[in-house]
Amino acid sequence: MPKLTPHLRYLAHAQQQTLWLENVSIQQLASQVATPFYCYSKAALLNNIQDCKAAFEPNKIHIHYAMKANSNLSLLRIVAEQGLGVDIVSIGEMRRALSAGFRAQDIVFSGVGKTSAELTAAVLAGVGQFNLESKEELAVLISITDKYQQQVSALIRVNPEVIVDTHKNITTGAKGNKFGVNFNAVLPMLETAQHSAFLKINGLAMHIGSQIHTTAPYLDAIAKIKILIDKLNARGYPLTQLDLGGGFGVHYQNHPQVTSNTECSVPPHLAFNDFANAITSALPDWQGRISVEPGRSLMANIGVMVSEITYVKESQPTSFIVLDAAMNDLMRPALYQATHALIPVQLHSQTEVPSTTQLTNYDVVGPICESTDTFSKSTPLPSNVTAGDLMCFLYTGAYCAVMSNSYNSRPIAAEVLVDDAQAHMIRQAISQDELMEFERHSALNLR
Ligand code: LLP
Repeated sequence: MPKLTPHLRYLAHAQQQTLWLENVSIQQLASQVATPFYCYSKAALLNNIQDCKAAFEPNKIHIHYAMKANSNLSLLRIVAEQGLGVDIVSIGEMRRALSAGFRAQDIVFSGVGKTSAELTAAVLAGVGQFNLESKEELAVLISITDKYQQQVSALIRVNPEVIVDTHKNITTGAKGNKFGVNFNAVLPMLETAQHSAFLKINGLAMHIGSQIHTTAPYLDAIAKIKILIDKLNARGYPLTQLDLGGGFGVHYQNHPQVTSNTECSVPPHLAFNDFANAITSALPDWQGRISVEPGRSLMANIGVMVSEITYVKESQPTSFIVLDAAMNDLMRPALYQATHALIPVQLHSQTEVPSTTQLTNYDVVGPICESTDTFSKSTPLPSNVTAGDLMCFLYTGAYCAVMSNSYNSRPIAAEVLVDDAQAHMIRQAISQDELMEFERHSALNLR
């Protein structure tokens, strides 16, 4: 049997092969949960966390999970139980982190536009690290710490201006990106902070982008930052903390070969170890603290999105698979031209793997009334897929459910967590009725 992602496999059932996540049949799950829905494997998440810890912790690199990748409370609880810290970008995320069991001191607050209200709430909650992105933000944070007489620890996020080979919408450390400050803005910020009784700047932070497949840009950025730190040390500013951000890439193109009877071959790609070793080798005599903020690499491969085929629309020159899932449920293809492998939940075949199955190329689309609602083009799928069949998008654990919305007045999809043979609803779908509820009092006078 092809092993598709960790813990996802086809098993023989009656006259068919059907897809199972751990020991739960996706077909059976779909008889209880309306499609589309997300479904995650707890074992896959624990595996990822273990791999990540095994790579970074022996190198004394602290891990703060970037919860923007998936902030479902049940998943956060698992991450917190495993002893990781967390990276947040809003007070909504802080509330989730605290409610999931992260300690305030293990929270890093990132983000280019933290409001004064958000900074105040985070200071009062005792958030452990503020990553500052401008001198303007520094001034606001100093005034808050003065007002409440609360000590805070901050890093300055710099923009190391390195070239990262990833989609243009997810680079963050290139010239002109809105994130971080230029190198020459660091010294004046340190001078300002020196006059503060409560705010201490302990180091520098960076995050150069997402879905990065080589260590080279990290090495470039670290080398530049190291030179800056040495200069600042020499001027009497001992900086002892480095936060290197996240960005470690995963392979979405790792299409399982539903047409081949060989074990799905995973193309060689970098593992947590490669990034950990590169970081350590770039900072041989560093005595201070180092941390990283992985998001996608902990979550992407733990989940699938399950959807039902509404129509197989035969047409010329293109035939379409029209799904009941749409770009509101899974935005990555529309926003980043991302491809998530799509596989049938049932293989209509008694043979182990349909190596002889006929394939047809389809454009896979959703029902939303715009052409960006296209998941993939010319996708080879078994020719016998038909309306009513269930399909799974792979690698949809990160930046998928969290980015869903209700465009076209569509409900927000449910999320399910599988743990061995058990399945738990970890977020109910948000129905049209619930969405409309917020609009019922639109006649309310605001004055
Ligand atoms: N730290 C900071 C400050 C970040 O802004 C991010 C991601 C991370 C860490 C985690 O990066 P990761 O390890 O997940 O690559 N929605 C896009 C990805 C946006 C990433 C935003 N920042 C996507 O679906 O590809």
